[in-house]
Amino acid sequence: MDALQSLTSTRHARYTEALDLLVSKLSEDESIIGVEFPYVTAPDGRWLTMPASVSAGYDGRAWSHGNWFCGFWVGLLLAAYLHSQEEKFLVWARERMRLVEARCEDGNTHDIGFIFQSSAIPFAHVTGDTRYAEIALRAARRLRSRLITTRSGAFISSWGPLTDLRGRRSSAIDTMANLPLLYWAADYADDGSFRLAGEAHAAMTWRGMVREDLSTYHAVEYDLASGDRVRGFTFQGYADDSCWPRGQAWAIYGFTATSRATGRENYLDLAAHLGDYYLHRTGERCVPPWDFDDPDVPHRLHDSSAAAIAAAGFLDIARLHPDKMAASTWREAALRTLDVLCDDYLAREGWHRGLLRHGVYSKPHNIGPDSAVMFGDYYFIEALLKVMMPGSFLPF
Ligand code: GLY
Repeated sequence: MDALQSLTSTRHARYTEALDLLVSKLSEDESIIGVEFPYVTAPDGRWLTMPASVSAGYDGRAWSHGNWFCGFWVGLLLAAYLHSQEEKFLVWARERMRLVEARCEDGNTHDIGFIFQSSAIPFAHVTGDTRYAEIALRAARRLRSRLITTRSGAFISSWGPLTDLRGRRSSAIDTMANLPLLYWAADYADDGSFRLAGEAHAAMTWRGMVREDLSTYHAVEYDLASGDRVRGFTFQGYADDSCWPRGQAWAIYGFTATSRATGRENYLDLAAHLGDYYLHRTGERCVPPWDFDDPDVPHRLHDSSAAAIAAAGFLDIARLHPDKMAASTWREAALRTLDVLCDDYLAREGWHRGLLRHGVYSKPHNIGPDSAVMFGDYYFIEALLKVMMPGSFLPF
């Protein structure tokens, strides 16, 4: 085994415990949650659920992301199958995938990246069944069709039907983490237009959303003709000019994916710089506050989901980095984060149905402000599998 890949027995036992917990919790939950999909836990530890079919959209002035969580649940079932080899998880994943599949033509949201790269892509990878790859390809076509071209570049519009100007001119940093669906499709369909669309978005996001100090805006509005940034703003962070750590983590993950897909090292360098910013402001605790700039330092909540996403991104940087020393430093940053998540955040108590306590979905909207959140659990497991079973879960 490559020295870079070796794991101490303490870490191996710690990560195995987390994967065992996934297996036992999913096994219990599948029989009680019905046909809806979990998204955040309530204060009493129950999963709150919603149907897979709930799309994103505006209700008057209010925007709702809808159900962008449903693919993550399928991904967790597949992860449980890989870890336990118990067929029942595959059976459940198949049943769930039937409910998720209908969303692959959803024209309202960039989140079809999240939904299908966490479900259909690992499904095809784990089982070799190309039916799932074809579903992911349909979703990738839909995501590519969200590309808006301007005089100075092109970006993927994040929110809402493209006929709604509010969404059409906006893009969120989260979109960076939806790009792996496009990059996967470029290889699967041997169609470079997916890669071009993803890279165009990454280039414009770099210019429009990364600030000089290497923090990121949560979202921006572009002038649709010139492509200039009209304003930077936030939806789930503390303030328009603050740095929302989950967004920073999405950026780290997505720019690394862009480097992997294009072979361009400048995107890897950027991801590493964004990672340095994140690590510097997160400090020894390894789990960042929900917003780096919330001034209420003694009382502010921390977001375990941001840490899980960052850990997955750091592992990708480590895999890609041409310098062995740097690669090993990034891997160690990821493992330290996973250690803390396992030791201090894992919900070992049976009444709490999530895996990671203390995630934050949306503090400004008071949705899951201190909960397990579905994407936090998913990226935690994605990161653990990257360490424990490299190459088994995802093809990238
Ligand atoms: N929509 C992605 C997020 O809440 O982070």
